[in-house]
Amino acid sequence: MKNFIGILVATVVAIIAIAYYVPRYELFERKSPEAGEMRDQIESVFLASWRDYYKHGWGYDVYGPIEHTFHNMPRGNQPLGWIIVDSVDTLMLMYNSSTLHKSEFEAEILKSEEWINNVLDFDIDAEVNVFETTIRMLGGLLSAYHLSDLFEVGNKTVYFNKAVDLGDRLALAFLSSQTGIPYSSVNLRSGQGIKNHADGGASSTAEFTTLQMEFKYLAYLTGNRTYWELVERVYEPLYKNNDLLNTYDGLVPIYTFPDTGRFGGSTIRFGSRGDSFYEYLLKQYLLTHEKLYYDLYRKSMEGMKKYLLAQSKPSSLWYIGEREQGLQGQFSPKMDHLVCFMGGLLASGSTEGLSIQEARRRPFFSLFPERKSDWDLAEEITNTCYQMYNQSSSGLAPEIVVFNDGNIKQSGWWQSSLGDFFVKPLDRHNLQRPETVESIMFMYHLSHNDKYREWGANIANSFFENTCIDCSDPKLRRFTSLSDCITLPTKKSNNMESFWLAETLKYLYILFLDDFDLTKVVFNTEAHPFPVLDEKKMKSQSLTTGWSL
Ligand SMILES: *[C@@H]1O[C@H](CO)[C@@H](O)[C@H](O)[C@H]1NC(C)=O
Ligand SMILES: *[C@@H]1O[C@H](CO)[C@@H](O)[C@H](O)[C@H]1NC(C)=O
Ligand SMILES: *[C@@H]1O[C@H](CO)[C@@H](O)[C@H](O)[C@H]1NC(C)=O
Ligand SMILES: *[C@@H]1O[C@H](CO)[C@@H](O)[C@H](O)[C@H]1NC(C)=O
Repeated sequence: MKNFIGILVATVVAIIAIAYYVPRYELFERKSPEAGEMRDQIESVFLASWRDYYKHGWGYDVYGPIEHTFHNMPRGNQPLGWIIVDSVDTLMLMYNSSTLHKSEFEAEILKSEEWINNVLDFDIDAEVNVFETTIRMLGGLLSAYHLSDLFEVGNKTVYFNKAVDLGDRLALAFLSSQTGIPYSSVNLRSGQGIKNHADGGASSTAEFTTLQMEFKYLAYLTGNRTYWELVERVYEPLYKNNDLLNTYDGLVPIYTFPDTGRFGGSTIRFGSRGDSFYEYLLKQYLLTHEKLYYDLYRKSMEGMKKYLLAQSKPSSLWYIGEREQGLQGQFSPKMDHLVCFMGGLLASGSTEGLSIQEARRRPFFSLFPERKSDWDLAEEITNTCYQMYNQSSSGLAPEIVVFNDGNIKQSGWWQSSLGDFFVKPLDRHNLQRPETVESIMFMYHLSHNDKYREWGANIANSFFENTCIDCSDPKLRRFTSLSDCITLPTKKSNNMESFWLAETLKYLYILFLDDFDLTKVVFNTEAHPFPVLDEKKMKSQSLTTGWSL
């Protein structure tokens, strides 16, 4: 009798297990195309955008694929290389792994390199934004140098020389104020710093705290410590003059006055103007292994968990909200799509680029419960950001959502399919932003969970379907931003952001690469990969942390 019950129980358990696993397994097999096919498809989409830009907008900074319109950004009408420089390292990554288009990628790298060497000239009498020019142009040149060296393609010296020239011009911005905090803009020829024309001259806090990876890598490559010292000097006034760790619990208002280092206003958020302050604390630690920056990052993450986390109704999605009136003010359930980088950041900080399985065996992880808490939150935030796509009518997320906290609904706001968030009429655009696929890429390589490739494929397909122009003709096919991704059919707008090529398609591509080692590289905030710096070489060049709290 005992035996019979035992067998019965075992049989029932087996049937339930098979019933549960088999369909899920098949579902996944059916829905997730082979990684190689996905890579081929992403390469084709990249090349369609690129060929169209080459044919109709080559060399110009701003390009509209619908009407084939173009212009340059700086006054004086000389180009900064906004699209070409931002895209070279994506060309190189695809060149290295492509099976179908290798020779085309090589030809495009050489064309771009020739343009950078012979046409691009940073000696322009015009003001440029210090932050944007650093993360996109300096970052793009430095990673092109790195990948040119690693993959033995092109001439790395071209990228290196341009990076030093641009770095020297941007470095003059740090001389504009007493505190060492640069003004928002700099004239590339005269070196004169220019304050932000709006916001009472205040700089965005994220802007001058998102230059450190680029200038530290430049210092390391050139042996010139000045670059390192200039970017590091901004932190001391920021932390000390605001009593940042105690009064603010590591969280920063989104404006800072460069002349005093004091915060302006009280809005605290992980979206625009705040985001990459947090990102570069961790990424400096990952790039240079300076412990101070991990400690500062840790403090900020604890502050974020204490003041900014909440769950939506009805699906209990965790999200990072805002505090418009300071830490003690009311909580706002609004979240920018920009915040979606936080899944990948928390996960990288948790395992330091190792897989979660490997990290669990290491003391740095197993002895510190906050590492596991960061990992768990990384999974939640990435899921929430996937839901911003999955619960949208087009399969694409809008620029900003307001999560459902049970009482916020207002007329004219669109409500997502499961009800977890609302979209205001002016926030319905989609600029083909990277942050969600960025986090999905990190979560995949750090967990090897195939779910993330399935999510990435769904988002990629929504981009390919909704943002495509002249889609049925392979020779004319190209991609653009959307002014509305909520009302169907979606509406296009005539602008291709450079980060479509530099970030979104790059992160999607890396998601479908096998064996991408995240302990060896750190991506800057524009998805430009730098190699982790060698600590012995840093020491021999006296590149060390020059301040403390
Ligand atoms: C470059 O290609 C080689 C050969 O396919 C591959 O082993 C390596 O992982 C690739 N490197 C990167 C960074 O993708
Ligand atoms: C690489 O570029 C540098 C800088 O333009 C040039 O001096 C050098 O001759 C080039 N090397 C090759 C092999 O073409
Ligand atoms: C180091 O960089 C600084 C800042 O751009 C520059 O003024 C200085 O000339 C450089 N030093 C050398 C030796 O190149
Ligand atoms: C939503 O996600 C599910 C599960 O990943 C998937 O089957 C479905 O196709 C997705 N829908 C959209 C619009 O992305």
